[in-house]
Amino acid sequence: MRIHTLLSPLNVDELYFTDKTAVVIDVLRTTTVITTALLNGAKEITPVNSIEFAMKISGGGHVLLGGERNTKMIEGFNLGNSPIEYSSENVEGKSIIHFTTNGSGSIVRTKFAENTFIGCFNNLQGLAEHLLSLNKDIEILCSGSHGMFCLEDTVCAGKLIRKIQKLNGSIELSDASKASLELNASFGKNIHEMLTESEHGKMLIENGFEDDIRYCSELDVTDLVPVFQSGVIKPFAIEAD
Ligand code: MLT
Repeated sequence: MRIHTLLSPLNVDELYFTDKTAVVIDVLRTTTVITTALLNGAKEITPVNSIEFAMKISGGGHVLLGGERNTKMIEGFNLGNSPIEYSSENVEGKSIIHFTTNGSGSIVRTKFAENTFIGCFNNLQGLAEHLLSLNKDIEILCSGSHGMFCLEDTVCAGKLIRKIQKLNGSIELSDASKASLELNASFGKNIHEMLTESEHGKMLIENGFEDDIRYCSELDVTDLVPVFQSGVIKPFAIEAD
């Protein structure tokens, strides 16, 4: 099992993921929101690449529109991108169309992958155990910020790799995965502090979303593993024999 980490989506062609097993991480806040929404009973989530397309496929309100622009809720949408908004009261049984600045586009970019799993600090141990059970080479895609590297996604990737390594010490790592491991060793000891000090974390706090920092920093609070297949994200379910 070999793990490679893509430190940002920049210059990564969608065909690169063809028939591969991918993981997408956007800790602040897209992949945390997706995991929370499914945990609270949302039926499915459709990530999209543009607000216009989100509006176009929303078809008159039988689905929820969720997402952000510059961290704030988009006009005409039902929900923003704070995981706290995706309560069972708001999302249970609902389908959600989701647009965000970096995360939703990163997920869509992996559409040719065999499977794309969704990772954040909230579900990391469950995800690590699941990936190991697949015993396949893994491509971890860090969403970054506007195509650029961001600390929090790479630290999360490093912590995921460390958890898999603890379960199976013989995994093979690419150079970028080794670098992610080192970043986790340096910055991953206090996740809340790391997120608070990160560039995107500071912007979220400035915009009044400090509670989201606390929420997104919680480690291993669920073993729910979302999976993106055929354009929608649902909880990964073990097929019954
Ligand atoms: C993103 O996709 O860029 C982030 O999730 C934005 C945010 O929620 O602040």
